[in-house]
Amino acid sequence: MKDDQTHLSADDWDELHFPRPEGNEFDRVVERAISRRGFLGGALAFGSGAAVMGTAFLKGTSAIAQQATRFAFTPIEAQTDDTIHVPEGYSWDVLVRWGDPLFSDAPAFDATNAVPAAGSDRVFGENTDGMELFSINGREILVVNSEYTNNAINLPHTAKGVPESAEDVLTLQNMQGVSVMEVAEGDDGWSVVVDSPFNRRITHNTPMLIDGPAAGHALLQTEADPTGTQSLGTFNNCGSGRTPWGTYLTCEENFNGYFGATAEVAADEIVMEHYQRYGVSTKVDPGRYNYHGFDARFDVSKTPNEPHRAGYIVEIDPSNPESTPVKRTALGRFKHENAASAVAPDGRVIVYLGDDERGEFMYKWVSRDIYVPGGDTSTLLSEGQLFAAKFNDDMTGEWLPLTPEATGMSAAEIAIFTRTAASNVGATTMDRPEWIAVNPVAIEAYCCLTNNSRRGATNDDGSLRTNAGGDEMSVNAPNPRETNNYGQIVRWRPENDDHAASGFQWDLYVMAGNPTVADGPYAGSENINAGNLFNSPDGMVIDSTGLIWIQTDGDDSNEGEFAGMGNNQMLAGDPVTGEIHRFLTGPNGSEVTGLCWSSDRRTMFVGIQHPGSSWPDGEGIPRSSVITVKRDDGAMVG
Ligand code: FEO
Ligand code: CA
Ligand code: CA
Ligand code: CA
Repeated sequence: MKDDQTHLSADDWDELHFPRPEGNEFDRVVERAISRRGFLGGALAFGSGAAVMGTAFLKGTSAIAQQATRFAFTPIEAQTDDTIHVPEGYSWDVLVRWGDPLFSDAPAFDATNAVPAAGSDRVFGENTDGMELFSINGREILVVNSEYTNNAINLPHTAKGVPESAEDVLTLQNMQGVSVMEVAEGDDGWSVVVDSPFNRRITHNTPMLIDGPAAGHALLQTEADPTGTQSLGTFNNCGSGRTPWGTYLTCEENFNGYFGATAEVAADEIVMEHYQRYGVSTKVDPGRYNYHGFDARFDVSKTPNEPHRAGYIVEIDPSNPESTPVKRTALGRFKHENAASAVAPDGRVIVYLGDDERGEFMYKWVSRDIYVPGGDTSTLLSEGQLFAAKFNDDMTGEWLPLTPEATGMSAAEIAIFTRTAASNVGATTMDRPEWIAVNPVAIEAYCCLTNNSRRGATNDDGSLRTNAGGDEMSVNAPNPRETNNYGQIVRWRPENDDHAASGFQWDLYVMAGNPTVADGPYAGSENINAGNLFNSPDGMVIDSTGLIWIQTDGDDSNEGEFAGMGNNQMLAGDPVTGEIHRFLTGPNGSEVTGLCWSSDRRTMFVGIQHPGSSWPDGEGIPRSSVITVKRDDGAMVG
């Protein structure tokens, strides 16, 4: 019987393992899940009333006008040129580019050679990603992640950008991490307040504290830090989050890429197994960053525990440039995309978390203690319960607690090897969870599942593709398409209107697709049409009026199955009607990522990562930048 199964097609194999009831109920589940008449039939009154009221109140326009359409702009067409487009009546401007000074003693940016190593921690970092704005004593403090480096343009003197000296490594380390900077609006628009006392660079070398269940564990101890509680640097800072008490959360995503080996690695079996699960290379080669060629900290043949000290949520206090960032191990270790907070009716803090890798999981964390506004919040993220999401085909779901009893692992091991803990409880493999957004005007949350080309695919021997932990990536209801190159957004409403509850109902808010070239599931859900084509939803933030802003990081070839989609873009979605309209298109080759608003909601800050040619300067090397977007009439934009 077993032998026979390996010869089945993917569809047949799936059928055998997930038998559909008579009448093909499975198809109906998928249909229901992608239909806007799903469980939101019941939610409509609540969502609609709250959202429309919020919009009318905040934008100062009539409720009748807002009921006619939630969108205060005329959608724009897809674009393939090397600039930014926004709707008529809106304008954009560059706020800060990679290499611009945060301090007046910063080195000048060179259009050919980028930033010299000396003083490279005094400028705005490269490849902007998640960001949040904090209003502190009436001043506007923007905190922005720099996810990774385009090594070849940072180090033009090297072959293919692989560092050839400790100085090269330092340059790359300083171009990543987090930039904290005051911004202000003058007659000529917004600019960075150079030398503001709030300005700060956090890099791959900034001292951090390690807190929570993994702190001090043997797996976190190194020769340089035998306590296992103090590390250097935060890595691959992807999406962001903010706590209700005004701190910034930076999310360590592809941290594995900074480690490598200079000799054969002789770590124990558990450690080797988890290098594999997390993608830490033990190959003796320079890799992409070659930090290990010049610094034993990144060499797993010498410092095997250093990778266990990365892959966390890091809390940063933007109000105090002297504060030490804290790695919150209670929130688990995986390829953290972003961190979306909510507060339960009883005051406990919820943080939703995604692990962006094919077939990995979606998580929720619930604090042990309650949030008391004005109270001590310094240890609120230290202790709580992690859960992994299980989606059922009947559009219900449950949060599976990652406890020692359920996982067979200690609390510290759950915090360090979280992926294994979630595999052990049977969480649902997802199509790469990217940003999660909590709706501030309805008790619901959304997660971008960006794509998964291997969903439902088989190996040469006919067996189903798995994640690195061996969990099969069969087609399932929230991830309903084989070879999913377009992505979808799943949404859930917690039981009892309580984000701390263990049960939820879910549906798909949108399945991206292309009805101009495909039929069936690859055409996308009903709310996709020739006017709003996109693929690979990634960044996502819901504004104070309840409008969903969706940013893409996908195939921008504008050809074949991606015809008509153009450059990466930002769209706005109505949570109630499902309507989605294109608001902004990025320059060639770029990804649109990171979004926040000024305190008066009249300016939108949007990130443009890895532009492809010489944007925005028009000559020289491309520079990732944060832009501002405003309405020409000065009205609110979120
Ligand atoms: Fe850094 Fe998953 O995006
Ligand atoms: Ca992303
Ligand atoms: Ca992405
Ligand atoms: Ca990116």
